[in-house]
Amino acid sequence: MDRRRLIVTIDGPGASGKSSTARGVARALGIPYVSSGMLYRAAALAVLREGADPGDEEAVMRAVARHRIRLVPRVEGDRVFLDDEEVTEKLHTAEVDRVVSPIARHPRLRAWVNEALKELEPPFVVDGRDMGRVVFPEAPYKFFLWADPRVRAERRARQRGEDPRKVEAELRARDERDRAQTEPAPDAVFLDTSGMTLEEVVDRVVEEIRRRDP
Ligand code: DC
Repeated sequence: MDRRRLIVTIDGPGASGKSSTARGVARALGIPYVSSGMLYRAAALAVLREGADPGDEEAVMRAVARHRIRLVPRVEGDRVFLDDEEVTEKLHTAEVDRVVSPIARHPRLRAWVNEALKELEPPFVVDGRDMGRVVFPEAPYKFFLWADPRVRAERRARQRGEDPRKVEAELRARDERDRAQTEPAPDAVFLDTSGMTLEEVVDRVVEEIRRRDP
């Protein structure tokens, strides 16, 4: 495979294991990992800091335009900067979770994220909701991860030390809000990861890539 064309897309609902899988696959292939959700999350942080109304597209775009948001892709995971401040560790809070999906519905914000992603030079592994279907339809390797909401909630609750039932309720609400943009590409490999360990999912994805392109 020509490395300049090597794009691996990993899409799926919240807490389906996309980011851990994408990170593992990137490490196995020795290429950077790009998280599109981190750009939406950085935009959400800008909206929170500006006190903008997440439902008002114009206000959201104004809040985003007031800051310089940069994504620096790395094999171990992206670093995100809001102006000169590194905010990578501040993007997985319940507050950001609540704001991110209402703002991710605005077409102008989606266009802003998609443009930033299209400027990145392959090779990379990218995760998100619509990477294979909308942003990189030409990507040679596409995967869609799914898992039962209860399994996903348990995984995330463990990660964050929160109550699994509360996490499950929030996750189901976010699934509902994200539904329109979370559609598998027709040529994506669909993986139900409910009964799989992270290592098994990573191995399965890497195997599929190597099988098609030894
Ligand atoms: O993958 P994540 O949980 O970090 O994504 C955060 C939010 O951003 C999620 O609620 C939906 C939105 N998102 C999106 O709409 N499209 C993407 N490609 C990535 C994320």
